[in-house]
Amino acid sequence: MGLKIEALDPTDFAEFREFYSVYARANQDSVNPDGSKESPLYMPWLAEELEIAFLSDEYARFDPIFVRREQDIVAVAFAELPQRDNLDTAYLEVWVPPELRRQGLGSALLARLEMRCGEDGRTRFMSETVRPLNEDSSAGVQFLYEQGFGFDTSLAQSQLTLPCQLTESGLDRGFRLESWRGLPPNRWIDRYAQLRAALNSEAPSGEVQLNDEYWDASRLKHEHDQWKRQKRIAQTVVAIDAEENLVGHTQLVFSSLSPIVHQWDTLVVPAARGNGLGLALKREAMRAAADLCAGKRLIVTWNHAKNTHILAINERLGYRQTAWVDQFFKVLG
Ligand SMILES: CC(C)(COP(=O)(O)OP(=O)(O)OC[C@H]1O[C@@H](n2cnc3c(N)ncnc32)[C@H](O)[C@@H]1OP(=O)(O)O)[C@@H](O)C(=O)NCCC(=O)NCCS
Repeated sequence: MGLKIEALDPTDFAEFREFYSVYARANQDSVNPDGSKESPLYMPWLAEELEIAFLSDEYARFDPIFVRREQDIVAVAFAELPQRDNLDTAYLEVWVPPELRRQGLGSALLARLEMRCGEDGRTRFMSETVRPLNEDSSAGVQFLYEQGFGFDTSLAQSQLTLPCQLTESGLDRGFRLESWRGLPPNRWIDRYAQLRAALNSEAPSGEVQLNDEYWDASRLKHEHDQWKRQKRIAQTVVAIDAEENLVGHTQLVFSSLSPIVHQWDTLVVPAARGNGLGLALKREAMRAAADLCAGKRLIVTWNHAKNTHILAINERLGYRQTAWVDQFFKVLG
């Protein structure tokens, strides 16, 4: 078809801005067909976040590419390639604005990304796409099947409208909570890194088993610095048992540029489950970050659809599901 596909130079500000405006336009059908303008379907990266991420670092390399027609960028895609864990895996995203769909742009970009990631030794590709609650399929789902991807699992995307009423946190005897903003205190940093790393093996997932991510104190410091540059701040809460073990954590991430707050990474280690820690951690994060929540519109979170415990916790906090996120994979023969 003679499409011109180029790699983005993320240090070229003008080119990045053009890339981002196409990405944002491809997200514009982001009003949830449940009719509510209050619950966006897609949660796109903000320009400032993506620009910093695209610079890549020792933990993740990004590979952004685009289709140029005449002078203009018309469709975009990027791969994220972990550098310290899951070295066989690449996470792929393809974005085509609504008016340019069904012209082969998406498949050309995906094929090129797969080739570039294959050259980097990646043999497993992961991708995901949002689906409205009341629909069985979506353009992204059809597209990924057509490109030879297999369905892995679905996540529930849920949101809590702010401001909200918080009930008191009860906590079983033998546990206490601590919280911080930004960098973990020195006394916890190594053990907190271990907890962050444990998510892939300890949280329910689909058929595709990802290895644990590489986390240590240096990476946490790097993340903190990167978030500062992206204008984000995290409120972290950890649970500690009577023997001073870190047994759970959760994280609320705020952007000074957006009214949407992200609830990420809630984990309670198996030995400490059944003590109400999940609920207590999430409540405490909202309580501790009450000043940051002021003026924000909603908190969004993603959980494995089969993780009934965390979904029940979300419901108690007042979350309601707003969409599905379907996850797909392809393994090279
Ligand atoms: C999914 C997306 C990237 C597809 O881009 P596109 O340029 O329209 O894709 P293509 O034209 O290359 O489509 C290739 C094939 O996928 C399938 N497909 C794509 N969109 C489809 C749709 N809405 N319904 C049914 N099949 C569809 C078709 O088989 C199509 O071939 P055909 O047009 O000859 O029938 C685009 O809809 C999009 O940006 N969606 C939002 C982001 C997203 O979900 N990305 C996918 C995961 S990263």
